[in-house]
Amino acid sequence: MKKIKVLTVFGTRPEAIKMAPLVKEFEKYPETFKSVVCVTAQHRQMLDQVLKLFDIKPDYDLNIMKPNQNLWTITSEVLLLMKEVFEECKPDIVLVHGDTTTSMAAALSAFYARIPVGHVEAGLRTFDKHYPFPEEINRVFADAVCTYHFAPTETSVENLVKSAIPKEHIYKTGNTVIDALLHTVENNKADLSYIGLDPNLKTILLTSHRRENFGEPIRNICKAVLELVEKNKDIQVVYPVHLNPNVQQPVKELLEGKERIHLIEPMEYAPFCSLMKEAHIIMTDSGGVQEEAPSLGKPVLVLRSTTERPEAVEYGTVKLVGTNTNKIVEEVQKLLDNPDEYKKMSESINPYGDGLSCQRIVEIIKKELA
Ligand code: UD1
Ligand code: UDP
Repeated sequence: MKKIKVLTVFGTRPEAIKMAPLVKEFEKYPETFKSVVCVTAQHRQMLDQVLKLFDIKPDYDLNIMKPNQNLWTITSEVLLLMKEVFEECKPDIVLVHGDTTTSMAAALSAFYARIPVGHVEAGLRTFDKHYPFPEEINRVFADAVCTYHFAPTETSVENLVKSAIPKEHIYKTGNTVIDALLHTVENNKADLSYIGLDPNLKTILLTSHRRENFGEPIRNICKAVLELVEKNKDIQVVYPVHLNPNVQQPVKELLEGKERIHLIEPMEYAPFCSLMKEAHIIMTDSGGVQEEAPSLGKPVLVLRSTTERPEAVEYGTVKLVGTNTNKIVEEVQKLLDNPDEYKKMSESINPYGDGLSCQRIVEIIKKELA
């Protein structure tokens, strides 16, 4: 029997975390699949951290990252360089993930090469093309050119149907991030002592990196953190700061050297999972963290005005608080002061997956392409 050649493409930290368990799943069936991995390296250091953890050695590394890169160069380089990869590799199917510019451009490039594309984490939507920017349009484009749509939840299935995607090619699989999370939490014991946290204080974990939060919003978030640590002597804040200079600059300017605020390098995935487990409250604008934290039973305050992940908001473990300083302070204070409020938001729920999403995707691809 001819093997199915699957080319998995990713470039940033979150894509890598969510595609790594899928690559590992294909590798379990060498008699059926020839698994090939291409990284664009839209992220370099933050991607390499994940490749190391999951022991993935890419077959192709486009190495495109440049300091302070922009959307035009990422798009054009991925579009062109992927053409060469397709010509050499000749895959039967290409897999891309989610909503990054790597994914959108690689999907378009494969479409131009007339190779079928599968979209992992398909169907997420805010239905506002500017929020998040440019991710909403990236995923709409990716869905438009892909043939197979692996939707994590019922809501994402419905969004795809609304977008006129043929129903026979929409598969509800759960989100592979839960596969990655469960595997990592089970197999890794991380040492967090290097951060220097005080075990007697409550820890608030913060991450923020979104383009639409650059400028005033990220400054407002930092001001809220300063106000919170000033008011509450029993809390400490840990912020693994994203390497994007648009994040590094204001965060360091406002928060560096302040008491009970720990600014640290982006963390490897395993210690980051341990830190999520240790945290009392999580404040974030990250997509992946919104999916992971609820299954660890942590209240999540989302520093955005919209989300394409409404499921945990509906369950009440995630709340949209935006980027107004007073509003952030008010919502965190409520969780610190009110045990009932805290309890309501810290129930462990898992609307995003059961850890078996990769198995399902592999089964579907086998059935469709064998
Ligand atoms: C990208 C994605 C975003 C995703 C985020 C996850 C796009 C347009 N954006 O945004 O959807 O949520 O990744 O983190 O696809 N940098 C480094 N080393 C790294 C990573 C980044 O130095 O390992 C710096 C570089 O200066 C780089 C800059 O960060 O130019 C921006 O990276 P880029 O991928 O363009 O944007 P992100 O904000 O990371
Ligand atoms: N993450 C990590 N180290 C960190 C911060 C986040 O490993 O210091 C993980 C997190 O658990 C999640 C993913 O990175 O799986 C989210 O990536 P990011 O927030 O960069 O992107 P988004 O999900 O918003 O696209």
